[in-house]
Amino acid sequence: MIELAERHTFKLPARCRSFIELDCSDDVEQLSFDEPYYLLGEGSNTLFIDDFQGTVICNRLLGVCIEEQENAYLVTAAAGENWHNFVTDLRARNIDGLENLALIPGSVGAAPVQNVGAYGVEVATFIEQVTAWDIKKKSWVHMSRSDCQFCYRNSLFKQYPGRWLITSVVFRLPKDWQPVTHYSPLNELKGNVSAQNIFNKVLEVRQKKLPDPKVTPNAGSFFKNPVITKKQLEELLKKWPDMVYFPVAEDQVKVAAGWLIEHLGLKSEAIGGAAVNPHQALVLINKGDATGNDVTQLARRIMQQVAEASGITLEPEVRLVGQQGLLQLTVAR
Ligand code: EPU
Repeated sequence: MIELAERHTFKLPARCRSFIELDCSDDVEQLSFDEPYYLLGEGSNTLFIDDFQGTVICNRLLGVCIEEQENAYLVTAAAGENWHNFVTDLRARNIDGLENLALIPGSVGAAPVQNVGAYGVEVATFIEQVTAWDIKKKSWVHMSRSDCQFCYRNSLFKQYPGRWLITSVVFRLPKDWQPVTHYSPLNELKGNVSAQNIFNKVLEVRQKKLPDPKVTPNAGSFFKNPVITKKQLEELLKKWPDMVYFPVAEDQVKVAAGWLIEHLGLKSEAIGGAAVNPHQALVLINKGDATGNDVTQLARRIMQQVAEASGITLEPEVRLVGQQGLLQLTVAR
């Protein structure tokens, strides 16, 4: 059995039967995907809750290629590239658009899977194409943005986990750069807006609010911000007039789950070594000796209390892997 604690940023004690590092895309065609298997990037959105009785295939494909066109840059990055290094490198070359997404942990290949987003920007906006190995059909696919079916923290890849192994992503970054600063605290940058300022501000805020996984093991937001209807919102606002929410579509809003968790007094909640992060309640942390069981119990407790108080069922944003593969967390309603 191979230790997995150092292979995922939540650092839970867990092992797997075998571990394969993929560092050449041609090798994908030779891989045997015997069940159960799990596709891993940098392990910043995966929690190994238990010993996984299968093979972990870790994407280490590297390389970036930039093509300058008349109105845009087309940037192709291999899936195993570190996301933040990629964003930082583009910023240094004055190729802008991804600055709001600085310091998001993880790899380039993981970005489209959950359509990573922060401070008013989702990566999908800039994705031109995703190249992947279709594990079921044993063939290469080149998916356009619309093929990927992106929406809030979701994509075709997330809906059918284990179906495609992403090898590279092509980003289209228009030269006509448009700053996105409507999200707090980027709206404080008024009159002083450059891609570098946005990049710096995002780094500052994330470093202040979100625990550094190297110091305090965590996997970023543990839950998604739930999307509810305007009618549900009106009911909740009667009870909690200062509840934080963001418009999504004509009849839909996204409620700040961190606000709900904090407001229900769960910010100092802990079970064993698993705890709610005191600076941003949407993030759960490993205080050092957390087990998978501590984390699932804590997550269930939060889901239960949020459901009882608001009628909202929180959904984990992270992926939880148990003995046979992905786990779903449910609570009694
Ligand atoms: N809030 C609280 N208490 C908390 C946490 C948040 O009241 O403990 C309130 C904040 O004051 C703010 C609102 O909730 O008014 C939203 O909080 P924040 O801006 O921190 O963002 P979030 O909605 O909790 C999302 C992403 C983050 C991303 C931030 C920044 C999801 C699931 N999470 O969090 O992404 O960095 O927005 O835009 O959408 C991640 O996915 O791992 C991640 C960190």
